[in-house]
Amino acid sequence: MRRAIAPAIALLAGALGAAAMAQPRAYAPGPQNISLPPDWQQRFIRYTTVDKPDRRIIRNIYINPEAYAALRPGEPIPYGALVIMADQRARLDGAGQPLLDGNGRLIPEPAFIAVAAQQKERGWGEGYGPDLRNGEWEYARFNPASGERIDGPLNACFTCHLQARAQQDFTFTTWDYANRTR
Ligand code: HEC
Repeated sequence: MRRAIAPAIALLAGALGAAAMAQPRAYAPGPQNISLPPDWQQRFIRYTTVDKPDRRIIRNIYINPEAYAALRPGEPIPYGALVIMADQRARLDGAGQPLLDGNGRLIPEPAFIAVAAQQKERGWGEGYGPDLRNGEWEYARFNPASGERIDGPLNACFTCHLQARAQQDFTFTTWDYANRTR
């Protein structure tokens, strides 16, 4: 019996080594962790829209269907959640005031003018200081036409979501949606 153990251990070590090598490259904090899936506009679920009359914009907020299905009241937002916020300009009248539809909602112009995203994955967030870290969330901005990531500072994303919504897993509408009685 004894003799059989050493090869078994060697085999196991080999398998573990192979598994470790198959791991994706080590995580480093930053927006490069987030990419827009090419089909997000077809596949993602728009769970809410927020009118911002003061800023003359409409915000469409989408989540991937896998995370949508796993949202539970009172629980953290599921790992793998990718929330995308795509803004449209509101249609204005001749005096520059936003027009309203029959339900009192802003009327969107077709194109997206800004796209922002937040994504949560197990192990993310490591490397941010306590004044910035949003649990396991990362943030990114994208060019609304090309879908490419936009370089630029993101500290404000972290600080605002941290200060306002640390108890809601760092989200505004996502948490509220998951916890709304339906
Ligand atoms: C001053 C506060 C503030 C800053 C700065 C901020 N956000 Fe938000 N964010 C909000 C609020 C409030 C909402 C809810 C929608 C609304 O009312 O505009 C929101 C919503 C979102 C959403 C939709 C999911 C959710 O939590 O409701 C995403 C994605 C998002 N923000 C990403 C970003 C990114 C990326 C940045 C930085 C480029 C950023 N935010 C900067 C306050 C902020």
